[in-house]
Amino acid sequence: MTKTSANGIQSEVYDTRENWPPYTYRDYPDIKAETYESFMEFLNTENTSGKLMELQPWVSVCDSRCAFCYFPTTASSKVQIGSYLDLLKKELGMYAKTKYVKTSCFDEIVLGGGTPSVLGAEEIIDLIDYCKANFNTSKEYFVKVTGSSKTLALPKIKKLAEYGVYQMDMGAQTFDDKLRKALCLPDSAKDVEEAIKYARKLGLVVCADIMYNLPGQTMESWEATIKKTIELDSEVDCYSLHVDPGTILEKMIKNGQSPPQGDAEYEKQMFIKAHEILTKAGYKAVGHDRYSRVEWHMRENCLNGWPWGGILTTGAGCFMGYLQRFSYSNLEDINAYMETVKSGKLPISNLSESTMDDMMRRTMSRLYLRLPVSKKEFMEKFQTTPEKVFPKQIEKLKTEGLLETDDNEVRLTKKGELWKGNIAWEFAPQAKT
Ligand SMILES: C[S@@+](CC[C@H](N)C(=O)[O-])C[C@H]1O[C@@H](n2cnc3c(N)ncnc32)[C@H](O)[C@@H]1O
Ligand code: SF4
Repeated sequence: MTKTSANGIQSEVYDTRENWPPYTYRDYPDIKAETYESFMEFLNTENTSGKLMELQPWVSVCDSRCAFCYFPTTASSKVQIGSYLDLLKKELGMYAKTKYVKTSCFDEIVLGGGTPSVLGAEEIIDLIDYCKANFNTSKEYFVKVTGSSKTLALPKIKKLAEYGVYQMDMGAQTFDDKLRKALCLPDSAKDVEEAIKYARKLGLVVCADIMYNLPGQTMESWEATIKKTIELDSEVDCYSLHVDPGTILEKMIKNGQSPPQGDAEYEKQMFIKAHEILTKAGYKAVGHDRYSRVEWHMRENCLNGWPWGGILTTGAGCFMGYLQRFSYSNLEDINAYMETVKSGKLPISNLSESTMDDMMRRTMSRLYLRLPVSKKEFMEKFQTTPEKVFPKQIEKLKTEGLLETDDNEVRLTKKGELWKGNIAWEFAPQAKT
């Protein structure tokens, strides 16, 4: 039996819902001399993809650790920020000198991490200036800065807005102060609200990261957080909590200091709740559970070119870099990162080079990003069609009502939205166990 929720998205197809697709950084193999050489050779070629790219310098530093966080960040007290920024620029410069990057065009500069907001406004501006001076940008490129209200004093937001930053990505997480305290978030819901309000008043776009299925989070608390972001006229990125080994939260749950998170069904209901409230308020889902009300933001997605475009990511611990068939992540240890860059080598720790077979599968994972698979492009790249390569998967998913196809493309149905992670796994070399 299948149940249909109020807005028509189906709530039962697979037993559990996959939140992430295959081919994430967790699967990249350790870098080897041969793969490094192959990557360097690739960087020596012209970029003929015709796709716009994203430049993503990471400041993987935070001044406190959120209990759930699995990002490889270092405490600000343990980092010489000046030296780190010099070496981050050096790494960016190493890429900027390559033929591939010289023949590439970037439409987004995104300061990620970590919390680049630990830097002073002048340091942030200097880093962006460096990117602008050394990389080709499109006519209408824009700049996004990631931050947390714990390090985003209002004068800093003002300076960034005046400089021309377009968007602040804010780790809001939850507007429930009881949960914030339990998750070691030092700033209050009011601080987050004030930072978002101020940024919006200055004309900045704000995208708030909010999390669901947190330990002890009730449906009412989740609803209140979603409604608050709508009231603040913020865009939203929804993240389902993943309790990672080694995080503070994992230990807290193990030793009984924190309740466990809800089960898979509860998580699914929370996702559906967010989808319903946000779509009713005029938001549309794009990419990995990002919700926007601005028409061109819905079209603009840094992953539009996946897997033929690129995200050139840099900095200690960055892990979402890809340039066509190469995907990579950098050394997490900030000192090892700095030493490697100093020695003149790219600080990559894991590097995957996809075969053509993998590229076909990765092309199908566009569905996870709510993007269609163009049959014309598939034919140009692989001289065949998705139906010929994946007949069983496509037939099965169409029968389930999760996919639809026409002469031009393969795309998700409305029902498929909820199961996009599972759908992507259908095209993986091994089914998810
Ligand atoms: C690198 S963080 C960038 C935001 C910024 N550092 C901050 O927290 O203010 C990106 C987002 O990932 C999400 N995130 C972090 N740890 C997570 C986890 N264990 N499970 C799911 N999402 C997580 C949080 O919502 C976080 O804001
Ligand atoms: S969620 Fe953001 S602020 Fe919190 S520790 Fe992770 S990167 Fe730092």
